[in-house]
Amino acid sequence: MNNQNNRAVFVTRLGAIAATAGSAVGLGNIWRFPYEAGTHGGGAFMLCYILFIFILGVPVICAEFILGRSTRCNVFGAYKAAGGRNWKLAGYIGILASLMILSFYSVVAGWTVEYFIQSASGALDFDNQQLYHQYFDDFATSSWRPVLFTVLFLILNFLVLIRGVTKGIERVSNILMPLLLLILLVFSINSLTLDKAGEGLAFLFRPDFSAIDPSTLLGAMGQAFFSLSLGLGCMLTYGSYFNNRTNIGRTALTTAILDTVVAIMSGVIIFPAVFTYGVSPAAGPTLVFEVLPAIFHNLPGGVIWSTLFFFLLFVASLSSTISMSEISIAYFVEQRHMSRRSATVLNTAIALVFGSLCALSFGPLRNLTVGGMTVFTLFDNMSSNVCLPLGGIIVSLFVGWRVKRPVISDQMTSFGTYRIRVIGALIFCLRYICPVAIGIIMLNSLGII
Ligand code: TRP
Repeated sequence: MNNQNNRAVFVTRLGAIAATAGSAVGLGNIWRFPYEAGTHGGGAFMLCYILFIFILGVPVICAEFILGRSTRCNVFGAYKAAGGRNWKLAGYIGILASLMILSFYSVVAGWTVEYFIQSASGALDFDNQQLYHQYFDDFATSSWRPVLFTVLFLILNFLVLIRGVTKGIERVSNILMPLLLLILLVFSINSLTLDKAGEGLAFLFRPDFSAIDPSTLLGAMGQAFFSLSLGLGCMLTYGSYFNNRTNIGRTALTTAILDTVVAIMSGVIIFPAVFTYGVSPAAGPTLVFEVLPAIFHNLPGGVIWSTLFFFLLFVASLSSTISMSEISIAYFVEQRHMSRRSATVLNTAIALVFGSLCALSFGPLRNLTVGGMTVFTLFDNMSSNVCLPLGGIIVSLFVGWRVKRPVISDQMTSFGTYRIRVIGALIFCLRYICPVAIGIIMLNSLGII
């Protein structure tokens, strides 16, 4: 993967888009987006989120692609190869945050494994919403079940990484992800027929401008970065695998649109049901797991829908955790000269320890808090609201100020293949708009501005 002379390349245009969209689409869209939107007041959050995806997200994805493809390196090598010896911070943020995200992400992915198994066995089929709440609560507060499923998920992740069958997973997910889109569409239509669909849609789409406060802005920005896999060098690495004809701007835009469509569909599925079944939209990380099974229960053939859905969500999570793991594995191998096997063991071992702490933070460790946040929430907030935006500032500044304009131009036009008229605007965004806007939102949320 990281051998400079023997680097993999995505041959087709579809391959590049499928890979980046595959990395972007995951639990971030289906689990995290509705819960963040729900806790930050719905419509106002949604509006800020969409603005950030296109104003900040798209330029930053382009910056990562430009840096990746022009250097053909991993996140550490890329800054160095582009003349940024002193920009190591970007690499360290990448490893730290990718390990934090892997830890809590595996917990939620573990929940999908548990829900898949329980759906298939028919155990997840109740007549009353309260019982779904109860079920999740019993599961998540148990002293061992969430840990067991986190460990199980991390072992699967490990096996895929160690066998180097990443390509196989990508191929599988290229078939399964369109299927996921299709069933999300079916569920969206179904949700529109629920009793309180109007109320749910109004919550999601009617912004209450007075509800926009610093935490809404920060939450929406963190969600935009998380959902687009930005700020850690994940997209940079994918960019390094693009062939020289891949249209960077178009790939960035297509990924952003697809990712946003999935998030919106997820909102359209969840919020009508939230109001119909009387669940609080601000229920937090557990929201989707309490609401989705009830939606499936009310569909004809509910057990089959539910089993299929949780299986697809599991595959989507696995393809995301593989891409996250690769960041720290590449670091251990290339900078610390470990074998790939030891690097993978170390990556998994760290995630096992911290993932278990996250898994227990809904039950036995719920009182272990830092600044009022459990370990799970701390990792989630620290990575999305601090590390990813910080990584975004660094890559914008670096590509905007340090990478020479002809290099940016060659990358954006694929060496003259495409006519791109927005290069000046892109550089302006990367130099000024992205770093300043991200900086202001971060400082604002800390109460400094
Ligand atoms: N974007 C993915 C999701 O929405 C998660 C993800 C994968 C990610 N790789 C990443 C998040 C790198 C941040 C950085 O589920």
